[in-house]
Amino acid sequence: MTAQHVSTALSPRPTKIAIVGAGSVGASVAYAAMLRGSAQTIALYDLAAEKAEAEALDIAHGSQFGSGATVIGGGDITCVAGADVVVITAGARQKPGQSRLDLAGINVKILRSLMPQLLEQAPEAMFMLVTNPCDVLTVAAQQITGLNSSRVFSSGTVLDSSRLKFLISKKIGVNPRSVHARIIGEHGDSEFAVWSNANIGGIPLREWRGADGTLAFTEADLDAVRDEVANSAYAIIQGKGATNLAIGVSAARICEAIINDEKAVLTVSTVLDDYRGVSGVAMSVPSVVGRGGVERVLNIPLDERETLLFRASAGQLSAIQEDLGL
Ligand code: LAC
Repeated sequence: MTAQHVSTALSPRPTKIAIVGAGSVGASVAYAAMLRGSAQTIALYDLAAEKAEAEALDIAHGSQFGSGATVIGGGDITCVAGADVVVITAGARQKPGQSRLDLAGINVKILRSLMPQLLEQAPEAMFMLVTNPCDVLTVAAQQITGLNSSRVFSSGTVLDSSRLKFLISKKIGVNPRSVHARIIGEHGDSEFAVWSNANIGGIPLREWRGADGTLAFTEADLDAVRDEVANSAYAIIQGKGATNLAIGVSAARICEAIINDEKAVLTVSTVLDDYRGVSGVAMSVPSVVGRGGVERVLNIPLDERETLLFRASAGQLSAIQEDLGL
């Protein structure tokens, strides 16, 4: 076997992320992925070809200062071909004061035409919904494609959990990566924090004390933190018209867990099957994410209040799904 053959035999297939939708969110996913080196090739597809080309070029021009990833973009859907992960950001986005669930009807319609085309281009890919309402759209995308729930999921509350860690970290002065706390349920107004198993270094968050020995959080404080997380997007949309940067890097992070087969635990959203009695609704719970997509949904302990909140979140989503015939 010649050296050329050996190197070909040894060199793994180049990794690729395809992002559908070159709006502010799609461009942010592409930019974050380039900077982080989430994949060797990053493709940005949009019907607005010029926009996709321009966003891709603007990212490519800085690529040498980042991972050096190849960044391509345009209006030809074949640029999605062969992707390991297809990230869907296309669709109508929240206007100030509008809830994510308000976008359901129009964005399900977009998916009905988009998903079959994407599956044709990338038949082996994992499909991640970022477009909102991402949970409802995950159910729609799975029904449209008929794919196993491990391959069609959404970024869910990965961003919300990051917001939660950020707020707790700011209050107690511990690195957010060392704050083990999660938001689960709908990526939206009915989401909630799992305080019962939140901890820092094994110390339950409810028992964390400041340097002066006083408890860092009362129950009212914890409720206020959860509310600030759930209202974050509204506040940012009010101020700058959209959220895009944190969701962009969150989506890139999830892609890496798949491409690198990390078996990382992330609160992505998949269609649940008899999870605490909930089926047919996509919600975020801690799940193992690797090369096979969402490989395992973890049945985490919830206290009585959290179980009620989980069921309430499922009820919100299933009501919208019923209206849409999903
Ligand atoms: C947000 C959008 C991604 O929470 O739903 O910022």
